[in-house]
Amino acid sequence: EKTGSAQIGVIGMAVMGSNLARNFANHGYRTAIYNRTWAKTEAVAKDHPEANFIASEDLGEFVDSLEKPRRIVIMVKAGAGTDATIDALIPLLEPGDIVVDGGNAFFQDTRRREEKLRAHDLHFVGAGISGGETGALEGPSIMPGGSPHSYEYVGKMLEDISAKVDGPNGEEPCCTYIGTDGAGHFVKMVHNGIEYADMQFIGEAYDLLKGAGLSAAEAADVFAQWNTGDLDSYLIEITSEVLRQTDAETGKPLVDVIVDAAGMKGTGTWTVQEALNLGVPAAAIAEAVFARAASSSPELRKAAEAALTGPDGVVEVEDRAAFVEDVRQALWASKVIAYAQGLHLIKVAAKDYGWDIDVAAVARIWRAGCIIRAKLLDRIANEYAAGNLETLLEAPSIASGLAESNPAWRRVVAKATLAGVPIPGFSSALSYYDLVRAPRTNAALTQGLRDFFGSHTYRRVDKEGTFHTVWSGDR
Ligand code: NAP
Ligand code: ATR
Repeated sequence: EKTGSAQIGVIGMAVMGSNLARNFANHGYRTAIYNRTWAKTEAVAKDHPEANFIASEDLGEFVDSLEKPRRIVIMVKAGAGTDATIDALIPLLEPGDIVVDGGNAFFQDTRRREEKLRAHDLHFVGAGISGGETGALEGPSIMPGGSPHSYEYVGKMLEDISAKVDGPNGEEPCCTYIGTDGAGHFVKMVHNGIEYADMQFIGEAYDLLKGAGLSAAEAADVFAQWNTGDLDSYLIEITSEVLRQTDAETGKPLVDVIVDAAGMKGTGTWTVQEALNLGVPAAAIAEAVFARAASSSPELRKAAEAALTGPDGVVEVEDRAAFVEDVRQALWASKVIAYAQGLHLIKVAAKDYGWDIDVAAVARIWRAGCIIRAKLLDRIANEYAAGNLETLLEAPSIASGLAESNPAWRRVVAKATLAGVPIPGFSSALSYYDLVRAPRTNAALTQGLRDFFGSHTYRRVDKEGTFHTVWSGDR
């Protein structure tokens, strides 16, 4: 009775997979479910009779319950879990079947898996999915990579369950074809890198507000206010909520009770490693990863705290409202830099890996469903759609916005530095701004030094060719 009747199958009945399966069912798709441990599948089917799932205990039975070509979404623990699931599936599938990996896979693993499945005439789609468990159920942002052919078979379903934004052409899905093999997971990885930077900047802004004497509740009001303007975004919105929360036990702001050591699962680190591999400057994103690492290095912090002196983080401000506005502008400008670095990384990677990525479309599908959803993405999408940008920073509305916020941004970095408030994100973002717009950089001196100690040669500004100088230090 169940053979061949399901339109889509989901493997992995933990929080993400079960919610995604319910999302498919809510959109009218007959959905088959499977989990390595049967008890979980059974519980999901029992808890959600409305979904009318076709639940199988046996993987072969699950595969048989799907119409052909089969469409299967894997939502299991990334890494070994995904490989184990794929290896179990391969002998059960037939040429033309489509396997979608919705987990947080490393894009090189996706490229490897795509090649492996292609050898079996199977299609493999690596789909980055963002939005956490609520997104999985109500509409995530989906970044699928794979063959254009496979997207023809699964694209509509993924678009149906994705988040939606109101655009000029009506409701637009936050899901679009990204590119071949690992392109989707690469874009999801960069999304997370930008998310790290966004959160680091927000933390720095909060530190500055605190340094200027604002309480957590006052800062919560400031963030709520910021959320009504250019900074309008999910992360700013929830910052206000987190800062407003008081601890039931102590009556203190909850943020003061939470241990100041940030954890990470590694996607931000991947982003920075990839930026290093491809030689793409993405220091603001890197600073966010390093700041988390520093926060979680208790021995380093303890030794340095005991040994080092300096200003205590109190920011002297004459006009509090003016300072708060300066911080807002510094936060906006820094955020733009992180997006610019992330999108530039995507652009360079696309060239390197042979992906035809439409950066405007990437910005469009980040406008809802995902953690970094923000009003700014509307503008970014429009700017990339309007012209072929080498960098977001050259887009007219972005360049003028940065020009406007420049004085405030510099005042904030200077004030924070004098007051001893650590702002690795803000200052790195500002340095990037100054570095990439500089007509000449200090790299000329670097080349001179390299030629001096290693005869590495240099090029000249006034003629072609490579040159070596016989330095006085030679011989
Ligand atoms: P998870 O805790 O990452 O993984 C648990 C699931 O993986 C269970 O179904 C488990 O089956 C299965 N599994 C683990 N090892 C396996 C193996 N060797 N063979 C077969 N199955 C195995 O679950 P999750 O939080 O729902 O996340 C699923 C995926 O989505 C992950 O790749 C995650 O990174 C990604 N993701 C998560 C979030 C989030 O906010 N949590 C957001 C976006 C993407 P058993 O029940 O049998 O153990
Ligand atoms: P999404 O973009 O949908 O939130 P995600 O990238 O998996 O999906 O998760 C968003 C954040 O939740 C990530 O930044 C990640 O934290 P770090 O990368 O900063 O460590 C965190 N996260 C991801 N998977 C998680 C899991 N299984 N358990 C707890 N936190 C997780």
